[in-house]
Amino acid sequence: NKGNYEHYMQKEIHEQPESLTTTMRGRLIRGGSCKAKTVLLGGLKDHLKTIRRSRRIVFVGCGTSYNAALAARPILEELSGVPVTMEIASDLVDRQGPIYREDTAVFVSQSGETADTLLAFEYALENGALCVGITNTVGSAIARHTHCGVHINAGAEIGVASTKAYTSQIVVMAMLALAIGGDAISSQARREAIIDGLFDLPNRVREVLKLDHEMKDLAKLLMAEQSLLVFGRGYNYATALEGALKVKEVALMHSEGMLAGEMKHGPLALVDENLPIIVIATRDTCFRLQTAVIQQLHARKGRLIVMCSKGDAASVSPGESCRVIEVPQVEDCLQPVVNIVPLQLLAYHLTVLKGYNVDQPRNLAKSVTTQ
Ligand code: UD1
Ligand code: BG6
Repeated sequence: NKGNYEHYMQKEIHEQPESLTTTMRGRLIRGGSCKAKTVLLGGLKDHLKTIRRSRRIVFVGCGTSYNAALAARPILEELSGVPVTMEIASDLVDRQGPIYREDTAVFVSQSGETADTLLAFEYALENGALCVGITNTVGSAIARHTHCGVHINAGAEIGVASTKAYTSQIVVMAMLALAIGGDAISSQARREAIIDGLFDLPNRVREVLKLDHEMKDLAKLLMAEQSLLVFGRGYNYATALEGALKVKEVALMHSEGMLAGEMKHGPLALVDENLPIIVIATRDTCFRLQTAVIQQLHARKGRLIVMCSKGDAASVSPGESCRVIEVPQVEDCLQPVVNIVPLQLLAYHLTVLKGYNVDQPRNLAKSVTTQ
């Protein structure tokens, strides 16, 4: 049921304040003034000790689910104290990459049925790793066969391009980081700030959704283009990959997400006055580096669109030709949840303007159950 919306993708983008609320329901505990703020993930509570003692946490997924894990990686590294590595499911299986008994392998999948992810899961299981699932689908293969896990509870997702599942996956993995991190005094203030940020997140997403018309205007400007680049780094490297993936999947437009730190090592050769480039430069420890990237792209006459935190438009914009997307600022590790929304809206409007099928893009399936 699409309700008042024209397409499922549109509905699913706009219902993110509600889906995020459901994802967190009953799992965040914010007591009175003397009661500690904590996280409770029922599906993991008996396994946290094992996860904390593991030698490594390996995230495994495909497409958007992989990108969600990549977005959560920095906060997992920071709070868990355990090394975190990333594997694209098919690549892990192709390489028969090393997986050990001392590893925790986390399988991220909206459908819980993706063949590549299931094969990687069977491989990790054979190698003796603790296998954790993060899925949206109760009763799916991943949910049933993993040792333990978390349902993201985002509600059914119909559009082939994943939107609300992505933001709920990131929130679950941020909660996972909090749960693994335990109650060390040294990180207490940080943990409490993240929990406050999680409580506030649905409202911030509601706020960023107001950019809908602005993103439609941007889509009009970009719809005739052949190609689009998206530069991000740190917490928002994943936002660049996921934003570009959305544009590729539904608008059928060539689009690449790139690590801004790699700009000088190749991508800079592509920059001219025609190729549109989105640079994500919201406030975090990478902000100064991103403003330098903007200057360098501007010096080469790059056609820039900058995403920045509210109030930063004047300080990030290198000139009048630069378009700016201002988004609400949230706790740094949660910023990817806010920042992806304008890019989801952009991909949606590009597709509708071009007259393509936004809910069922050509050649793609919601759940790829063959290799
Ligand atoms: C569970 C109930 C929820 C109830 C709540 C009350 C289910 C599906 N969830 O939620 O309805 O309101 O208790 O306390 O009945 N699991 C895996 N692999 C996965 C995902 C989950 O093994 O990929 C396992 C978990 O380890 C857990 C079970 O499935 O044993 C349910 O997981 P989840 O729904 O996340 O647990 P709760 O949030 O506690
Ligand atoms: C498919 C979908 O390729 O599988 C993507 O078209 C999705 O949108 C990917 O991200 C992974 O799916 P899942 O269900 O494992 O998260």
